[in-house]
Amino acid sequence: SGRYTGLIGRYADRLPIDNDAPAVSLGEGNTPLIRLDHLVADLPGEVALYVKYEGLNPTGSFKDRGMTTAVTQAVHEGSRAIICASTGNTSASAAAYAARAGIKAFVLIPDGKIAMGKLAQAIMHGAEVLQIRGNFDDGMRIVKAMAEQAPVSLVNSVNPYRLQGQKTAAFEICESLGRAPDYHCLPVGNAGNITAYWMGYSEMALAPGAAGTAACGFCNGDCVYHQNAVAHRPVMLGYQASGSAPFLRGGPVEQPETIATAIRIGAPQSWEYALTASRESGGWFDEFDDEAILEAQWLLASREGIFCEPASAVSVAGALRDIRAGHIEPGSTVVCTLTGHGLKDPDVAKRHAEAAVSTVDATDGAVREAILGKMA
Ligand code: F0G
Repeated sequence: SGRYTGLIGRYADRLPIDNDAPAVSLGEGNTPLIRLDHLVADLPGEVALYVKYEGLNPTGSFKDRGMTTAVTQAVHEGSRAIICASTGNTSASAAAYAARAGIKAFVLIPDGKIAMGKLAQAIMHGAEVLQIRGNFDDGMRIVKAMAEQAPVSLVNSVNPYRLQGQKTAAFEICESLGRAPDYHCLPVGNAGNITAYWMGYSEMALAPGAAGTAACGFCNGDCVYHQNAVAHRPVMLGYQASGSAPFLRGGPVEQPETIATAIRIGAPQSWEYALTASRESGGWFDEFDDEAILEAQWLLASREGIFCEPASAVSVAGALRDIRAGHIEPGSTVVCTLTGHGLKDPDVAKRHAEAAVSTVDATDGAVREAILGKMA
């Protein structure tokens, strides 16, 4: 049937999930790839710049791609509870998928440094929320120990099923473009997503049926492998917030800070994998301060109509800078992942309110005057 039922249904032949495991799904994935028109207009070299808008997943971030696979597998193995440390989005997603599966979710969040929307989600989905007196890296250390000491399945991205699910975003991009992009730009925090994309692109490029090889081995030429096989892989570009940039410093950052709380991480778990993705693809890492991140978020929202959270915007800040500098060549096709929805973090957005909101009397005259004033 044509009804879309989420990633496990869509990519059954490419995910290591048993056929008899009932999928725990909220219809995640299948997100739009949107071409930016305005932000590239005054840039050199006719670059085609797209955003993969992952904020349109069921809980508003890319985490749902990995949570459907991780929770499906955990339940299939008989688990009755999952656990994660999180800067917010993983906890929101884990909470929702646990609710869906009818199991318990324990989420460890850093004291006070989580966006309001994400906390609201974890609470509404009935998770056990443990706010620790520490940061994400402290939480990560503890949940890894708990996976050994308590009857809980760990669903952070060190769980291999997480990255398996997240790699499907690369499949969708190749299907949508009819090829892999030349460059892929990502915000990097715990470094799971850049690892997952590289895995996905690699599977696309190396799949039986990819350009130059004959039969696919799975089908008669009509499977997703076969129809969407691509010949090359993109250059992977990872961007970090300056206060939380271990890949720029060459090692862990003790006290990570940034307004982009989603990526306020000093000791990424997928450190080696991310370095490998960067090196194998010929990519690089770069960093942006909070002001530049918020500027990119504002540009996307106000000039393209796309509202993402601050952490997501660092990918676009990076793409724009590297296009302008010529590090990304003219004629390139570039994709940035917008990892989370802007509504996740209303407090950051509210900073702009003073300039945007005028209070007027509730009369025709006052409103007309305001309109004419703003149009002038
Ligand atoms: N963007 C957003 C919105 C995120 O929530 C995260 C990670 C990232 C980017 C970075 O992805 O960790 O795979 O490099 N958030 C995790 C969490 C850490 O707990 O929600 P990464």
